Amino acid sequence: MTRAAGMSDQPVALEPVGKGNRAAVLALELAPEQQGFVASNTDSLAEARRDGEAIPRAVVAAGRVVGFLMYSAPDDDDEAIIYRLMIDRREQGKGLGRAAIAKALEEIARLGHVRRVSICYELENEAARRLYAGFGFVEQEPDEDGEMIAVLELGG
Ligand SMILES: CC(C)(COP(=O)(O)OP(=O)(O)OC[C@H]1O[C@@H](n2cnc3c(N)ncnc32)[C@H](O)[C@@H]1OP(=O)(O)O)[C@@H](O)C(=O)NCCC(=O)NCCS
Repeated sequence: MTRAAGMSDQPVALEPVGKGNRAAVLALELAPEQQGFVASNTDSLAEARRDGEAIPRAVVAAGRVVGFLMYSAPDDDDEAIIYRLMIDRREQGKGLGRAAIAKALEEIARLGHVRRVSICYELENEAARRLYAGFGFVEQEPDEDGEMIAVLELGG
């Protein structure tokens, strides 16, 4: 993966996944060494169909689907979990992952009932660690699967 230091973040939109963008989400790719960091989008969309609490989103920049994320924010819980994020390998290093998380946090904050957001990632996933730390996510203990949990308390 190449880094494009100094590039300013591009505007992104988060769009519900449906007929019009599903194929584009499924066509997104990761580098081989990244594939262990997140479930495939095929698996995530199948999971979203089974799990009524899953909120899948296409990450769209300049009219193109460039990534995917998924979170849950049940009405009866003050904690939301962002549990999938990926940016297509050809689009990484351009600020899109950061912009996608910023949009997801805005969307979650607008729900009104969420006080904290948690996220988890493999211990060796330095890109994820740095990305989330930049938003103020604070690392907790690794969970029982050995993945790091990080938590952000929403202000206000
Ligand atoms: C993690 C991921 C979403 C980042 O997306 P991205 O669009 O490339 O990231 P951005 O360009 O927005 O970078 C934002 C910040 O993330 C961190 N980061 C991103 N890529 C990095 C890398 N290769 N090495 C170290 N830090 C990195 C940096 O802190 C960066 O900020 P900086 O450029 O000011 O240093 C992307 O690498 C990805 O899809 N990885 C595979 C799937 C995955 O690991 N998902 C997270 C699992 S929870």
